[in-house]
Amino acid sequence: MRVVTLASEDDFEGWRDAARGLAQAGVPPSEILWQVGETPTDLFAGEAAMPVVASRVVKVPPRFLDLARSAILHGDPARFALLYALLADDPRRIADPADPRVRRLEAMAREVRRDIHKMRAFVRFREVRDSPAFPGIGAPGVRYVAWFEPAHHIVRANARFFVERFATMRWSILTPALSLHWDAEVLREGPGASRAEAPGEDPVEDIWKTYYAAIFNPARLKTGAMLREMPRKYWKNMPETALVRELVATARQRETAMVAAHVRSGGDADAAWRALRDEAAHCTRCDLHRHAMRTVFGEGSPDARMMLVGEQPGDQEDLAGRPFVGPAGEMLDRAMAAAGIDRASVYVTNAVKHFKFERRGKRRIHARPDAGEIQACRWWYEQERALVKPGMTVALGASAARQLLGRAVTIAATRGRVLELPEGGLGWVTIHPSYLLRLPDRAKAEDEFAAFVEDLAAAAKALA
Ligand code: URA
Repeated sequence: MRVVTLASEDDFEGWRDAARGLAQAGVPPSEILWQVGETPTDLFAGEAAMPVVASRVVKVPPRFLDLARSAILHGDPARFALLYALLADDPRRIADPADPRVRRLEAMAREVRRDIHKMRAFVRFREVRDSPAFPGIGAPGVRYVAWFEPAHHIVRANARFFVERFATMRWSILTPALSLHWDAEVLREGPGASRAEAPGEDPVEDIWKTYYAAIFNPARLKTGAMLREMPRKYWKNMPETALVRELVATARQRETAMVAAHVRSGGDADAAWRALRDEAAHCTRCDLHRHAMRTVFGEGSPDARMMLVGEQPGDQEDLAGRPFVGPAGEMLDRAMAAAGIDRASVYVTNAVKHFKFERRGKRRIHARPDAGEIQACRWWYEQERALVKPGMTVALGASAARQLLGRAVTIAATRGRVLELPEGGLGWVTIHPSYLLRLPDRAKAEDEFAAFVEDLAAAAKALA
């Protein structure tokens, strides 16, 4: 028996190097024991230690390596042997979906991907002052600490995501097998931790609870959907779930007494909005988050009576993290001023919260969001409307109109009149200000600008 000792549970490189040598030497799977431990990899140690000579060349398709990279992170101890069995047999079989080994590996990779996503979605940082509990990880100050229990060995593979997302924060993620500590410059690993070492309730949790209470609508209670979004396994680590359980339990009696109204009358809409915006910063509901710099959330007073909805942030908005601050924003500001609307009095947001673009050289060129991306972002738009409760919502352009009305419409067919929105409240559809920037004919641009101003003024008047 040959014993291969990998450095860690997620040691893909160690497995790959050992497996390549063994497969080229024609060592059968039944002669290898894969283990994880402290001892450095000693490929051919063990009872049958003997020199190994490469007797064949094993060509490995990229698809095999991709699958192996994910499947290695699975918690099943048989994964190393299973992958080796396929490699030693014929790695090209990876293309055969009927092969039971491939099916099992694909299922593992799926579970790993799900776990990676769960960690991204359900890690909740709690704010702590640096304490002796986290020594040697940077100067004293605020640190955000989270506890997470992954199902698989995905923590290290997920580290980069958290570093990029929270680059300027100092944070620690504690898990049973491994801890990550980021001090805004260097990522360090530490040993596993226990739940008791992670901080408990703190003011950040209060904000979460406020937010959940503010958006919780007992009349729309869908426990199944909630469980899908927030599987029970994670409930115990999330501050808001203590509250959600209580809200669910009492939902029936309170169908008419909306929690949101209650919280808002307590004047906590600002805190609820901040919590909502911070949550949106981690949004992975569609693929756009992969390329954009950040989520650009709406902004303005949560008490605004008018909400303006654009299409999506542009290049400058993506860099600044604020909606309508680039050329289209300047045009919008001019039109609002001409219509007598103070930007500070309205809430400005977008149908889609991430910048979608195509790269051309160094430039990032705007690309239209598709129906799926608009739909994926609908959740945020609904939360914003649930908080702000605008009397009038103005759609700027066709993508925004689709978000407001929940279906594809043309500007020509919907512009210029008050519309009843599906979730209640009034709506108005007009052009997107960037349309004005694209008009080459000056006279036409002036006419269109005047019509845009007229639309904004009419929407404001309808509200009054
Ligand atoms: N265009 C939009 O639709 N929204 C912005 O925030 C900027 C440009």
